[in-house]
Amino acid sequence: MKIPAVKGTRDFYPPQMAVRNFIVEGWKAASRRSGFEEYDGPIFEYLSMYQMKSGEEIVEQLFSLTDRGGRQLAIRPEMTPTLARMVNQQIHTLPRPIKWFSVPRLCRAERPQKGRLREFFQWNLDIVGAEDVLADAEVIFCAVDYLRSTGLTAQDIVVRLSSRRLLAALLKEAGASEEQLAAIYGVLDKKAKVPAEAFEAMLQGAVPSDQTRGRILQIMNSQSLDELEPKTSEGKDAMEELRRLFSLLNLMGIGDYAQFDIGVVRGLAYYTGVVYEIYDRGALLRAICGGGRYDNLLKDFGGPAVSATGMGMGDCVLEILLREKGLLKDENLPTRRLDYYVVFAAEQWASEVVRLAAQIRLAGWACDFSYKGGNLGKQLKQADQSGAERAVILGEEFNAGKLIVKEMKSGRQEEVSTDEFLASLKRV
Ligand code: HAM
Repeated sequence: MKIPAVKGTRDFYPPQMAVRNFIVEGWKAASRRSGFEEYDGPIFEYLSMYQMKSGEEIVEQLFSLTDRGGRQLAIRPEMTPTLARMVNQQIHTLPRPIKWFSVPRLCRAERPQKGRLREFFQWNLDIVGAEDVLADAEVIFCAVDYLRSTGLTAQDIVVRLSSRRLLAALLKEAGASEEQLAAIYGVLDKKAKVPAEAFEAMLQGAVPSDQTRGRILQIMNSQSLDELEPKTSEGKDAMEELRRLFSLLNLMGIGDYAQFDIGVVRGLAYYTGVVYEIYDRGALLRAICGGGRYDNLLKDFGGPAVSATGMGMGDCVLEILLREKGLLKDENLPTRRLDYYVVFAAEQWASEVVRLAAQIRLAGWACDFSYKGGNLGKQLKQADQSGAERAVILGEEFNAGKLIVKEMKSGRQEEVSTDEFLASLKRV
């Protein structure tokens, strides 16, 4: 029996790898356009790191293991704890604000479904040490800048924004206690993802009081910021911060991508302020991206109280959306591109083909040749199938110091001296 890939994982054959590279290269280019620097960390960490602050849901989805020294480890399900740990290690020497990006391979033992797998790639953008909401706007801008660069427009995608700080103030006004908040966030995050009865039962579990629950449901039905009127100064500040975020996004020219949505709460436990998720406009797919401000994570990991904000965008939903919108065009995908394919007209030049191909490569050009050889027609067919731009033919004239260069597309061919050809390989 042939061995299949493990459930929820993908094999990246060259065509799939080209798509992945296309996505990842776009992420990296957008990060650099906005001034982020790349970092990476280990693929596994201490299990306890995720148990501390990521929240119940992600802990249930961990791939964990015990190493031979008895250490409890887990494959990383997200990057933010690693980032917090790494920044904490060098917090006094890193110039702030720290603007970092990464594209880690992550694993979560989720139930595989459309857009959710057990192994995926996730673009992370984070800014540490900038308290102002301008940093949140910068992260959102960079994510939208990337999505826009793929051809997605404000008609295709939407950034749904809210604030945990605002929600916390409103929930407390509704009668919830500080201790209940974390559980309520967990339930509210599930609202759009589970059937109505299941949601109501979960909310009842987190908030036993009928009156408080009624008020919470009323808050969650609000359609705009104007409908919400926080009474406490904390609530008013959070509201003001959100309004400023919207005006910054307008200033950056991406206001039409953003929309207030009190229903965006986020599943992870560490968010403390602005939160957002990016969706396809039809909301037919799972979230493309999620992020927000997390002001306590570094402190909780033993560092100083430094504010941070960031987002993660997975490759799975994104790829589905790009495909649906016809934005994954073959000609844009970074596949193998050969400049030259060297062929011989008769067996006697077989070793010269090897020598010349090596010289072409050493000069910095992409070049290949047939290992089997065969007649010239067969080799030229292979040259054509390889997608090479030019074929270099070694025939009779090679003995007179000449070879033939054939442009594969036009079929135009020219006899040139071997020395001239070699000289032409030197890039100016
Ligand atoms: P998250 O909402 O858990 O946030 O994940 C962010 C994105 O990663 C999702 O919107 C989705 O695109 C992708 N994603 C998550 N799970 C899967 C999965 N099983 N299969 C495929 N894609 C998935 C975080 O991970 C936060 N650490 C993001 C962040 C960075 N917050 C601040 N900085």
